Parts: sequence; C-alpha cells; structure tokens
Amino acid sequence: MAKAKTKFVCQNCSAQYPKWQGQCNQCGKWNSLVEEIIPATDKDKKKSLAQAGAGQDLASLEALVEPLPDKELLKGSKSRLDTRVGELNRVLGGGLVPGSVSLIGGEPGIGKSTLLTQTVLQMLLAKNQGAKLIKSDNNEKQLGFGSVFYVCGEESPVQISLRIKRMLSNEQYLAMMGFGKDLVKDSGQKNTDDWYQFLQKRGLKFVTTNDVDQINALISQKKPDLVIVDSIQTVSTQDLTGASGSVGQIRECTERLTTVAKKYSIPLFLVGHVTKEGVIAGPKVLEHIVDTVLELSGERTGQFRMLRALKNRFGATDEVGVFKVTDFGLQEVSNPSELFLENHLEQTPGSAVVCSLEGTRPLLLEVQALVNSSQLPMPRRVGRGIQLSRIQVLAAVLQKHCGLPLDSHDIFLSAAGGFSLKEPAIDLGLAMAIASSLKNKKLPQKTIFIGEIGLLGEVRPVSYLERRVKEARRLGFEQIIASKKQQTLKKVLQTIGLK
Ligand code: TYD
Ligand code: MG
Repeated sequence: MAKAKTKFVCQNCSAQYPKWQGQCNQCGKWNSLVEEIIPATDKDKKKSLAQAGAGQDLASLEALVEPLPDKELLKGSKSRLDTRVGELNRVLGGGLVPGSVSLIGGEPGIGKSTLLTQTVLQMLLAKNQGAKLIKSDNNEKQLGFGSVFYVCGEESPVQISLRIKRMLSNEQYLAMMGFGKDLVKDSGQKNTDDWYQFLQKRGLKFVTTNDVDQINALISQKKPDLVIVDSIQTVSTQDLTGASGSVGQIRECTERLTTVAKKYSIPLFLVGHVTKEGVIAGPKVLEHIVDTVLELSGERTGQFRMLRALKNRFGATDEVGVFKVTDFGLQEVSNPSELFLENHLEQTPGSAVVCSLEGTRPLLLEVQALVNSSQLPMPRRVGRGIQLSRIQVLAAVLQKHCGLPLDSHDIFLSAAGGFSLKEPAIDLGLAMAIASSLKNKKLPQKTIFIGEIGLLGEVRPVSYLERRVKEARRLGFEQIIASKKQQTLKKVLQTIGLK
C-alpha cells in the first residue's frame, strides 16, 4: 500500500502546512500543528461527487442502510457484558456495551493496568462464565468468553504475566474474587503455573505489536471478545510521520481502532495517560471519538482509588466506583461510607461527619480541621481533598457572620481516605469542623451536618436530602442537622453550643 500523504493542520486556525513547524504563521500560536492524513486527492473527490447520484450499484448501496437493530439487542441490560468487577460495571452504567470504546485515564502508577488485568482475569476465570452476550444472530449465548487481546505497549507480556501470577498466587485475592476451590476443581489445576496455563487456555492473548494497522488486522481476523490497548500512547501508524504519543498519532490510531471495534461489536478498552496538564492524552483529543471516558484517581500514596465516568454514552456520568489498594491489586469497596467512618470512633475537636452525594450513592465521611493561631500576616489555608477557595469562603463567612476570629488563624482541612470532595452539601460540616477546632470543643456525638452555606451566612437546602438522611440513619447517626427555613450558620453554632 502506498504511504498515505499527510499534512500538518493548526488546531487553532486550521491553517495547513506540508511540514511541521513550531509556530503557526497564520495565527502565531505555538505547538498547535497536528499531523493529519490527507484523505483523497481533490480530483478523486470530484469524481466521487459526480458519481454520487448516478452509476452506483444500488445493491451495494442498499447494504449500507441497516434496518433497526433487533429489539432484543436494544434491551440494554441484556446486551451488556458483565465485567465481573462490580464497581467498574457501576461506572460503565451497568456493564460493558459490545462495540463500545472506553478510554481509561489516570496518572502513571495509579493502577490502570492493574484494574484492567483484574477485569480480564475475572472475565476469563469466572466460574461459569455466566456473562450473557447477545450475538448479532440473535442467539443469546452463554458467553464462552473466547479470547481477550491484551495489546502490551507499556509493559512486556512477561511483566503482565508476573502481575497475573502474583494475583493468582494470593489466596486473599482468590477468595475475594470468588475463585475458590471450584475453579481449581474445574480446571484440574493445582498451582500458580497451572493457573497461568489455564488462563492461556481460556483465551488470554498478548499482542506485542505497536502498529495499529497490524492490531486491527488481527482483530478483524480473530474477532476476540475483548480488546485492551495499554496504552494508546504507545501505538502508532506508519501512515503518519509523527512519533507514537503525538496528538496526530493518538487521534488517528484511536479512530482506526474505534472503527474496527464498532464494525465487529468488540468492546475495547484504551489506557490513556494523563499529561502534566492533567488532561487525558494531551489535549482532549480523544474524548469525542470514544464512547466512554473513565478516570482513575486518588492520591498515589493513599489507600483508595476512585473511578469516575467523565463521559458515558451508555449511562450516567456521575457514578463513582471506589477501590481499596492492596498488595495483590484493587479491592472493590461496595460500601465506602462504612469504611471511611471505620476510624471515626471517638469524637474529637475538629472532626465532623459530612455526606457527599457521589453519583447516586451518598457517601458519608469524616472531615478534619486544625485551626491554630497564626504567626503570618496572611494566615495559611491548606486543604487536602477540599478546594482552597471553599476554605477561604467558609472562613470569611464564619468571621463575618459568626464573629469567629479566623483572620488570625491558620486553617488546615482534610477529607478522610484521600477522597476529593466537591459537593456544596459538605459546607456545613466543614464550617462545624473549623469552629470545633477553633474552640477546641467536640461536636455532638452521632451527628451529621448536611447543608450548603451561602455568602450571607444562611444554610441552604441540598438535593436528595432524603437519600442522604436514609444512609446516615442506616449507619447509626441519630442527629441530622440540615437546612430548614431561616436557618443560619450562627443559629446552628448556637444549637450545638459553639457560640
Ligand atoms: P499500575 O497498574 O501498573 O499503574 P498504571 O498502569 O496506572 O501506571 O500500578 C502501579 C504499581 O502499583 C504496580 O507496581 C502495582 C502496584 N499496585 C499494587 O500493588 N496494588 C494495587 O492495588 C494497585 C492499584 C497497584
Ligand atoms: Mg500501566
């Protein structure tokens, strides 16, 4: 095949250049040129336009028009694939949709490869492989999960195998996954090496090429049941001159992989690194191509990881999956509140419990404040998991409307478990924690604070209050302080004896 011709297009003003250059001559922007393939010569284009109306074989055109997909296929839940990782299913909106392309992003070392390896293991080894997939011939099949292609760009097959071996030789992991004696019995395997062979027999294949066209050819011919590309930054096409990982390459490769995945209804996972600027794969070039964008986040040294959907064509985007980091991999946390409140046994000054709604799930957790007199002309405001601007606003409101002398105090705030809290409903709890630390007085026991605070010192109502209250009651909270008519921050402070 002749090499495709390419051009460099400025992403800012669409000016085109035959060669790469650092700055666009037209608009003056730096580093804005991205390599693209020139689709067809203009002459070809004109020809095909002329042909558009006449001369085309009707039969071949009709093949392009598809009737509505079968009703069964549209039933949603049935046509989804159980990933066997409950939290991943939750974030995906109830399972993996065949032919969907999911980009999973996150900082290096956060656990993307671990999560995907685990998913593969669980799907391949699940005892009776009960995930149901409706094939296009409308036969509902027990998913004889044929094969998984794991495209290894980042790590060698040996490294991935070692990770698998480490997981499968951990009894805790096996127990957690529900792979117990049954699996051993089923497979007739006894030790880890046997496990590994067993996995191979079940269809785990490592693809070691980084050429996207070769990968696509493989997928088209072998039609695996799941493809994982770890990571999209390592694959490239020879049609473009740019190095793998460049914006042009990433975009072109994703487009090509997506086309094939859709054509054969094969679910595809792409791993994408977050750049220094904090966006997936450089500029957000991939987000519009793929169906789902997931982000795995958390403090690298923390013990929790959060999986969020930033975009999801097949479900809500506000669901959060919570995982705990362990020696053997990520452990699902299906009831995060209980875990987060585990260490919150005794009430101490500066500690308050808040409720943040993450997706449809109310999450109860402890926030801690440390308020100390400051030696600095500009006292310090430090937040871990809590936005700085929010601390500043709360401090100002507490000072102005409740008379707390916070302008001469440093404030440190932190959310438990490395969780990052953004919901306004936690305002009241944060304010209480600050006041409690300042006065060095405990907040009442078994009490939770739910409410947003306005600039006038009023406590505002929050959405889904019932849902939050229900969760709080379930976890044994007796007093719930939320907004009611004419409720102000000052009154709340008075009720709990901090004023
Ligand atoms: P890895 O999955 O390779 O991160 P990424 O693919 O996002 O760059 O994980 C990084 C390292 O952390 C790896 O050596 C395994 C280790 N790790 C654990 O030991 N337990 C865990 O639960 C996770 C998530 C990672
Ligand atoms: Mg990795």
